[in-house]
Amino acid sequence: MNIVANWSYPTAIKLGRGRIKELADAAKTLGLKKPLLVTDRGLASMAITGHALDVLDEAGLGRAIFAEVDPNPNEKNLEAGVKVYRDGGHDGVVAFGGGSGLDLGKLIAFMAGQTRPVWDFEDIGDWWTRADASKIAPIVAVPTTAGTGSEVGRAGVLTNSETHVKKIIFHPKLLPGVVICDPELTTGMPKVITAGTGMDAFAHCLEAYSSPFYHPMSGGIALEGLRLVKDFLPRAFKDGSDMEARTNMMAAAAMGAVSFQKGLGAIHALSHPIGAVYNTHHGMTNAVVMPAVLRFNRPAIEEKIGRAAAYLGISGGFDGFYDYVLALRAELGVPQNLTAMGIKPDRIDELAAMAIEDPSCGGNPVPMTLENTKALFLDCF
Ligand SMILES: [Fe+2]
Repeated sequence: MNIVANWSYPTAIKLGRGRIKELADAAKTLGLKKPLLVTDRGLASMAITGHALDVLDEAGLGRAIFAEVDPNPNEKNLEAGVKVYRDGGHDGVVAFGGGSGLDLGKLIAFMAGQTRPVWDFEDIGDWWTRADASKIAPIVAVPTTAGTGSEVGRAGVLTNSETHVKKIIFHPKLLPGVVICDPELTTGMPKVITAGTGMDAFAHCLEAYSSPFYHPMSGGIALEGLRLVKDFLPRAFKDGSDMEARTNMMAAAAMGAVSFQKGLGAIHALSHPIGAVYNTHHGMTNAVVMPAVLRFNRPAIEEKIGRAAAYLGISGGFDGFYDYVLALRAELGVPQNLTAMGIKPDRIDELAAMAIEDPSCGGNPVPMTLENTKALFLDCF
């Protein structure tokens, strides 16, 4: 089954095998004549990146690339990228990659014409209105994983290189103008990355669905996103060349990111500090803490999860869903707990303090305090 689709929600999305060949047309649609492709160091030398540059070059758009991007991009990567963008006289960005390439690409397009420091645009209140929106360059996003969903997001995550704290930079115009979701770009992912990124998409859908805020549109998208992950992540994991599974996982990743406008929760509030302190994989960390968070949230979400279980064809309500999550984790080789991930429970106070400051914390269905968050961390070991 070859799935091809054009959507315009939440932005123009071109989904289907081989559609990377439409990259130059997508860039031209946004008026670009000299785009800068931004990706991470690992991807820079890969064939899929070379091919994307060929497509741009053959259409007369050049083959400029910036790849000095760390796995958790920081403000130094951003400054270097903005300099390359300005010095090269570029007029837009092709953000290419997993979360790091996509987020840093988006942020370079955003910061290229701003005069204030990037931290002035953190996602707090109306800080985004400080930006000169007319100076934000157009963005084409090309995901090469199926998890982060940053290709359809209006934010970028930037790590402060001194404090190691991740900050969310927000502006409505950070939403890419065109997204190309070509599942063939994801077939080279190692199994562990397929599993980790896929579980990130699952966590986005689960936390959005569970968050108490009133946003039924996002709730519906989250629920169908859970179904796509359930049906297709094990297939993509087992056989990386299963294109139907890869295509559906790309859709699920985008749906996760659309749905989490409704909110995230404790999975991400815990995962962010663990990732910051121990440099663990974001999606895999989400999967590791997921069962403890489900137990923690049970009093507030039991009925809701029961409804999701029924939709997903899982019997046994909340307990059935919980057992399903454990089985999915086992199937994907997710470590049992934080101990199995190689982490010692000696910095729980510090992690809990960071977690309750995390922006995701406010969306958790059970209010998080310093005390119950310490207990929750302990339960993850
Ligand atoms: Fe995430």
